[in-house]
Amino acid sequence: MSQHTAGLAIETAGLVKTFGETRAVDGVDLAVPAGTVYGVLGPNGAGKTTTVKMLATLLRPDGGEAHVFGHDIVREADEVRSRVSLTGQYASVDEDLTGTENLVLLGRLLGHGRRTARDRSAQLLAAFGLTDAAGKQVKHYSGGMRRRIDIAASILSTPDLLFLDEPTTGLDPRSRNQVWDIVRAVVAQGTTVLLTTQYLDEADQLASRIAVIDHGKVIAEGTKGELKASVGAGSVHLRLRHAEQRPEAEQVLRLALDADVQPDPDPVALTARLSAAAQDTAAEQAARALGELARSGIVVDNFSLGQPSLDEVFLALTGHDTGTGPGPDTGTGTGTDRTDTDSDSTKDGVAA
Ligand SMILES: Nc1ncnc2c1ncn2[C@@H]1O[C@H](COP(=O)(O)OP(=O)(O)OP(=O)(O)O)[C@@H](O)[C@H]1O
Ligand SMILES: [Mg+2]
Repeated sequence: MSQHTAGLAIETAGLVKTFGETRAVDGVDLAVPAGTVYGVLGPNGAGKTTTVKMLATLLRPDGGEAHVFGHDIVREADEVRSRVSLTGQYASVDEDLTGTENLVLLGRLLGHGRRTARDRSAQLLAAFGLTDAAGKQVKHYSGGMRRRIDIAASILSTPDLLFLDEPTTGLDPRSRNQVWDIVRAVVAQGTTVLLTTQYLDEADQLASRIAVIDHGKVIAEGTKGELKASVGAGSVHLRLRHAEQRPEAEQVLRLALDADVQPDPDPVALTARLSAAAQDTAAEQAARALGELARSGIVVDNFSLGQPSLDEVFLALTGHDTGTGPGPDTGTGTGTDRTDTDSDSTKDGVAA
């Protein structure tokens, strides 16, 4: 793979990194289309940060190769560095400086004049809803403000490729949404984003393609739809008119669909997971199920056909769940750097 494939921001082949006995990254192949958000999804210790660090030229691979915009990450590391920016899992702005001081300092380091550095800082602080906090030392920021100043710092000069390593781990739902808006705004301006996350809904929200990694290996790759389709055909959700008809409905569905049928906590609701092995499509299976229910005199008030969730995808691919739950509030707590000394008081949203 010494030829660069047009249209790809990142191309890796057999990338390996070992730490002693641990094969942290164990032969990773990635092809990240330019101008998109690419999600790298995996649980703790999967090798996400190690992969990102190699691509950002902070770690030297032990095997395989990788190109960033056609530049070899080892032999042309300077070229790569000039085009990428990394927002680490563990943020790196100076705690003792204010928001403004951090951004101005970084701007000056990037070679901007004093005036430009100040203007750009003010602009970014406003866009990230941090104007009120601009004069405060970063150590007094909440977790959400901290994550936003960190991303602001990494896009001070618009990078062609931005690495976001678990940008929302430990954030509350509102702060997560703000970070998501920022990511969308950054991509709208032409930057490619490689986003690592443990949150399936985050990859689902932001990424156009997703690589699922576990134990240093890519275990699945594709668009969200492809990933979901590879795991199962989806689920049928039903609401019955009469709760007492539910046991019979379960039986009918099992027979008609060969599906895994689960009663909901709601006494009139049911979910049937459709078999991916079935000959006919999810829609055809669902239609057959409705027909069988009607023939049995079971009244269905409401019906929907959904694709599998990414949680189900992960479970099916790895045999274990992500271990992190559906969102930050149920996470295991690793990697969080929330400072609860100050509530996130910025009310203004994030401008594009
Ligand atoms: N500097 C290091 N020295 C030794 N082992 C390391 C080092 N960095 C990472 N590892 C190991 O490599 C594996 C992958 O770690 P990595 O940090 O890449 O995972 P991750 O997917 O980013 O996990 P998390 O979601 O917890 O951030 C882990 O087993 C980790 O313990
Ligand atoms: Mg990590």
